[in-house]
Order: sequence, then structure tokens, then C-alpha cells
Amino acid sequence: MSFPVGRVLRSAAGRTRTARLLGTLPTPAASTIPSRFRAPVTAGAAGFHTVPAARRQDGSNNNRTSAQTTTENKPTDEELASAAGSFARTDDSITVEYPPEEQLPSSEPVAGTDRAGAHVFPTLATFSLQGKVGVVTGGARGLGLVMGQGMVISGADLAIVDLNKEEATRQAQNIVDTFRNDHPDKKPPKVTAHYADVSDPASVEACIAEIVAEHGRIDNLVTSAGFTENFEAVAYPIDRMRKLWGVNVDGTYLFATSVARHLMGRNAKGSMVFIGSMSGAIVNVPQPQAPYNAAKAAVRHLASSLSVEWAGAGIRVNCISPGYMLTALTQKILDDKPDLKRQWTSLIPQGRMGAPEDLMGPVTFLLSDASSYVTGADLRVDGGYTVT
Ligand SMILES: NC(=O)c1ccc[n+]([C@@H]2O[C@H](COP(=O)([O-])OP(=O)(O)OC[C@H]3O[C@@H](n4cnc5c(N)ncnc54)[C@H](O)[C@@H]3O)[C@@H](O)[C@H]2O)c1
Repeated sequence: MSFPVGRVLRSAAGRTRTARLLGTLPTPAASTIPSRFRAPVTAGAAGFHTVPAARRQDGSNNNRTSAQTTTENKPTDEELASAAGSFARTDDSITVEYPPEEQLPSSEPVAGTDRAGAHVFPTLATFSLQGKVGVVTGGARGLGLVMGQGMVISGADLAIVDLNKEEATRQAQNIVDTFRNDHPDKKPPKVTAHYADVSDPASVEACIAEIVAEHGRIDNLVTSAGFTENFEAVAYPIDRMRKLWGVNVDGTYLFATSVARHLMGRNAKGSMVFIGSMSGAIVNVPQPQAPYNAAKAAVRHLASSLSVEWAGAGIRVNCISPGYMLTALTQKILDDKPDLKRQWTSLIPQGRMGAPEDLMGPVTFLLSDASSYVTGADLRVDGGYTVT
């Protein structure tokens, strides 16, 4: 096995980072870095120590490229100064407006028993959602669709809630068809589709009433409706920021409180999972997205706060914070800025973006009795991004 030859920079503050910026990633020309970001001091003055590059076992080092640094071939102070901080900062030139619905492709449920985890191997009974009724907001596409499918495969009936009811209806049928195909010997689940704008209280109340009328009750909730946009903070259109917070934060709050009222009214236990983001704990680079990051931090802390408030009622509330997952949302950003994928994956210890089905297990765990003593937690599903 060979490892990429890198160099480790240890900052004065003690944070260690592989010097991917000087290795696999191109070092930006000083002219591409806004003048106010150019480092005023040289690396030496800023207190960086260099550690010799890793060597192959045979002593050779032929993985190196000319851009990679060796102890014999040190970067000049000027090169270091031009790169300093550049990959740890946001780039004001990146602006991505969330596109109109019709410009986003629909997604498909996960097919095949190997990927979707069919009922083949024995597992703990407590992981089952058999007999539960789950609701997933934003379930017509992307992460919500696949998490909903994971709930169904784990035994739950499902209500898909989305702004796009037509797509939700199509996907409800798709999930049932895929289940029938993968499990011809099993009773197919009941999967229904419902309209709601999660940011609108009246719409949320009407939707919950409709789901209860069709399914009889609700046991589990996953709040996946949400979106991101990229604008530098000083130019973020206020109406778009309010909409972003309305869907991500108000939408989570409104759905959760409405389902909690329903559970309390029945004196029933329940489990909820809010979909936050690693952006609620770290600041992504280089795309600027301060309001989204703040919104996801709010979602995470809302989960903790409600978990305490509702613990006595037997309602658990946890958060899943995904890292970079490949969905229509992120694909749109990558279509606009293809170079970002290389930069993003270079920062993920597991070396790849997540697939939506990477969330099937975590969401099933948190909704099921397998996690009955877990509440108020934030489960990061990010390939290790936030650990480095
Ligand atoms: N994709 C990622 O890399 C990633 C990473 C971390 C967190 N997340 C979060 O995961 C969630 C799902 O993201 P995704 O990538 O699947 O997005 P997506 O755009 O593919 O799907 C979002 C769904 O939510 C629906 N929706 C949007 N606004 C709504 C509203 N007001 N009411 C009801 N439904 C609405 C959309 O119609 C769509 O079906 C979001 O909360 C997002 O912030 C995504």
C-alpha cells in the first residue's frame, strides 16, 4: 500500500493538517487571492514547523510531484505566504442560488438488495421499525427519499411530505414497487404522499391531520426538507435568507412541535430525527454560506433543547449532521463549480462524498428502540470531515 506523499503543517495553535494545499491541490496564484486575504506575515514568522515527507518502504519517493514539498525542496517564503490560509477561507466569488424546482432532476429509490440492505441477514430485533408509522419531510427527493426508503425496508409505513406533491406521489409508488421487487414474499408497506410547505404553520397542521387520517397515527418523524444557497454575507439577499431560515429552522420546529402535540395527545412514545448538517458545527470552505451554517446550528441545538423538554413525555429527539452527500442539491453546486469536488473530497478523511444510502442505517438506528437511551445527540455522518 502506498500513501500519498504529503507534508504536515502544524500551526502554532496546535491544529494539524496534511498539506494537501501544497500537494494534490494547486496552490492559488497570489493574484487570485483577494488582497485583504493575503497573509501579512511569512510562514516562518507565523510559527509553522515542517515535518519531513513520508517515504515509501523501499526508500524511494516517486509519488512526489513537483508541487509537493520535500525537505530539500522547500517552498519559498513567498509561496507559503501566497497559500497561507487560502484553502481555509471562503471565496466571495462563489454564488449559487437554489434553482427553481423544475431545474432539479428527480432521484430514484435505491434498488438492489445489496445496496438497500434487504432482509437477508439476522440482526437485532430492536433495530426494526415494524408496525411504526414514519413521516419524512422533504421526502420526494435526495436524502429524504432514501431515508424514507430505509424506514420502509426496516418495517415502517411511511408518509412522504413535500412541496412537490406530484413527485412525492410518484416516489411513494416507486418505493412500494422497489420493495415488492426486492421482497416478493413480504406484505408491501403503506406509503402515502402529502403536500406541505414546512415553513407555513397552517400547511403543517393540515398535513399532519391528513397523515393521521390516512395512517391512524404517527410514531416517527424525520425532518429533511431544507436547502442551501451560497452568497457572500455582505451581499446575501434578505428575502432569500428569510426563506432559507423559514424552511430549515421554522420548518423543523413546526413539524416537530405538531408531531409532539399529536404524540402527547395519544400519550404515546415517539422518536424524531432532525437533519442538520456538519455545517452546523464547522464552517465550510470555500463556498460562503453563513446563514445556512447558522440555520443548521439552530437545528442541532433545537434537537438538544426539545429532547430535554420532551424526555418526560417519552419523545426522543436526535440530530443527524451529514457531511457532503451527493444529491441534486450538491450536484447543482458542483455543476456550477466542478473544481469544488476535488477540494471537498481532499478534506474528507474517507476520501469520498457520501451516498444518500449512507444515512439509511443511522436514521433507522435513531428512530428505533436500538437507540432507546439516546436522546439529544448529534450523529455526524460525514466521512470524518469534522474530526480533522
Ligand atoms: N446534500 C448534502 O450534501 C447535505 C449535507 C448536509 C445536510 N443536508 C441537508 O439534508 C436535507 C436534504 O437535502 P437534499 O440534498 O436531499 O436536498 P434536495 O433538494 O435533494 O431535497 C430536498 C427536498 O425538500 C423539499 N422541500 C424544499 N423546501 C420545502 C418546503 N418548504 N416544504 C416541504 N418540502 C420542501 C424539496 O422539494 C425536495 O424534495 C436538507 O435539510 C439539507 O440541508 C444535505
